[in-house]
Amino acid sequence: MKQVKLPNHIAFIMDGNGRWAKKRFRQRAYGHKMGVQNMFRIVGACFEMGVRIVTVYALSAENLSRPKAEVEELFNLFRTFFGKKREQMLEMRVKINVMGDLSVLPEDIQQSILQVMEETSVFHDKLFNICINYGARQEIVRAVNAAVSYGRFVDEGSFSTLLYSGGIPDPDLIIRTGGELRLSNFLLYQAAYSELYFSGKMWPAFSRRDLKRAIENYSARDRRFGRVKEE
Ligand code: FPP
Repeated sequence: MKQVKLPNHIAFIMDGNGRWAKKRFRQRAYGHKMGVQNMFRIVGACFEMGVRIVTVYALSAENLSRPKAEVEELFNLFRTFFGKKREQMLEMRVKINVMGDLSVLPEDIQQSILQVMEETSVFHDKLFNICINYGARQEIVRAVNAAVSYGRFVDEGSFSTLLYSGGIPDPDLIIRTGGELRLSNFLLYQAAYSELYFSGKMWPAFSRRDLKRAIENYSARDRRFGRVKEE
């Protein structure tokens, strides 16, 4: 890859699994399964390149209103990921952090998530955030309620510690696949100065080369954070 400015934190909206599967005359569940495989490939590639934090939108709060069978399929993918794939994550030496309201998940999945978070909490170089039953508005309202319950006024610094992402640097780059041009209730507070990149590729087809292209595009951008550049 050309000499590039590497983002410290990349977040992904992994959209397009269903359409990818439909085009191949397969069930949506197959698209999600391939989506998970691609998540391993792309997240692994990010860490290999030297990106330190990766965040993925695995299940939005709104996704839970999908047909029961599809939600069950997604739950089964979480079961496998936090169960059977556990060893693989320990080998990768990546700290896993799950963000979202986990209380609605089946008890066994909640338990395995807590176990993986606990076991990987000893790793500090690479962080993998997985958003499950996550919604940015819900996250903000929850943080406001926490501040109210503490009876304290907040500033930007103290407020951000009340979010699920408390203490994690904001994403430098947010990549959305699947061709839609929106954030869909993802990291709305944290995305204030994130660079956005939209790819027309469906998530299971988003390749390492597409990732490199996105990072090169990011690297060429002038991030001013609202300031002017000194001559
Ligand atoms: C969007 O595609 C994707 C989802 C709703 C969930 C996808 C989740 C994963 C790939 C990862 C699961 C994570 C773990 C940790 C196991 P869509 O169904 O909205 O696609 P469409 O827009 O083509 O219908």
